[in-house]
Amino acid sequence: MPVKKLPKLGFLYLDYVLRFFDYSNFKGWPDKIEEVTYHWKNDKTRFINEVRRKKIDVLVGNIPATAYETFKEIALALPNVRFLPSIETQFSNKSKENVTLFCNKYNIQAPKTIITYDGKEQESHFKNCKYPQIIKRSYGPSNYGGYFVHKVDNYEEAISLMSEKKYKPLYSQDAIPLKDSGDIRVMLIGHKPVCAFWRYSGEGEWITNTSQGGSMSYENIPMNALELAVKASKAAKAEYWACDIAIDENTLEPYILECATAFAAFPYVRDWIAQYIMWDISAGRFRLPHVPLFSWEELGKMNPAVLRTLRHLYFSKYEPSVDGAYWLADKGNFDMELTQDSYESDVPQNIKPPVAEDKLPGFLKLGDKCSLVQSRDNGLYNLENISLTKLLTLQGMDEELAVKIMELIQDKNITSFEELSEYDFISKQQMSQWATSFN
Ligand SMILES: Nc1ncnc2c1ncn2[C@@H]1O[C@H](COP(=O)(O)OP(=O)(O)O)[C@@H](O)[C@H]1O
Ligand SMILES: [Mg+2]
Repeated sequence: MPVKKLPKLGFLYLDYVLRFFDYSNFKGWPDKIEEVTYHWKNDKTRFINEVRRKKIDVLVGNIPATAYETFKEIALALPNVRFLPSIETQFSNKSKENVTLFCNKYNIQAPKTIITYDGKEQESHFKNCKYPQIIKRSYGPSNYGGYFVHKVDNYEEAISLMSEKKYKPLYSQDAIPLKDSGDIRVMLIGHKPVCAFWRYSGEGEWITNTSQGGSMSYENIPMNALELAVKASKAAKAEYWACDIAIDENTLEPYILECATAFAAFPYVRDWIAQYIMWDISAGRFRLPHVPLFSWEELGKMNPAVLRTLRHLYFSKYEPSVDGAYWLADKGNFDMELTQDSYESDVPQNIKPPVAEDKLPGFLKLGDKCSLVQSRDNGLYNLENISLTKLLTLQGMDEELAVKIMELIQDKNITSFEELSEYDFISKQQMSQWATSFN
């Protein structure tokens, strides 16, 4: 039988944005994989032409929030290119507002949330709501160590916070009393949970942030959290997906706090995702990865430094070598599946027509000078005493990279900004971008 031609695969990259995938994840793919990099600022037409010229059929990669509206237009101009994950699937990547609209549309349990641009509505909400409320900045990069997430216990605190922060829209939700002061991250591939862990808050903190003194555990992930994550992944039609889930300590009910296709994952998880994608787009010529449910409990016993270096993990299905061999049933009832096609109508209605990113007040725009960096006390950062939060305000920085840099500083492997250039996980572009922020 003639081997069917494989589609032409391309990576979607953006300047200053960490790359989720590279060639090494797609081990065994026999053809050349193309790359197309978006350079920001009026780069749409050039990008479209490059995709056409390279005859790409499938464009793989995450679109950061800042570029979401632009990429909606790019995808429209390339109707024969499959974006993977689809633009519709990536709706929730854009903002917390979008996460809430997505959960509402698909009836996925999430904290009761108000999103409003109207001052009067805001006022009446804070008069009548139950407390505590969690107020968040809706747009902009997330995972900034709680920099844009606040807890208020009464009306006065709410009003004073909002007069200080001036977030638009107001995004405020019921605080879930967190079971074990933690929340759960679940990662899924083809709607199957492949990794999950609890993140606990640091001592005296209400917010769970493992990069600020919290801890984590791969044990005792409740089934209802996995089921809620699967429901969200299916609604999003996501090839890969992650959810942050809070468990109410009184009712044990799970609630989605955040969900997206963009998340920090160990390389071996990205290898599994790439293997799943190869299976999907090759009509089964590549093998679907088999990841036993709860295998994260065993992997989680390893030191994170080891987990960071594990690659191309392979589980075979367990087959006892006896006559009439049987398959050992996977615990739980979760299968890795093909996702369904996305349609424009999958996407929830926006509260306000989306505004071009550069016109949103207080919005960090990649490719421009970072507004937060400009507004810091006019001084430059010193590497020795920089905090994680400050590192995270740098353009194009993400949590995983920032934590890595913090480790280098704490272990005294580096004492000056310049020494960072010796590490290959930081690009020249990033170095020159950040150089202006350091002493
Ligand atoms: N509604 C809520 N109830 C209780 N805790 C919350 C709630 N929303 C957020 N948190 C806590 O704050 C953390 C950060 O909130 P999140 O929405 O994930 O923002 P980000 O990751 O962008 O900082 C969560 O991991 C969780 O610990
Ligand atoms: Mg979060």
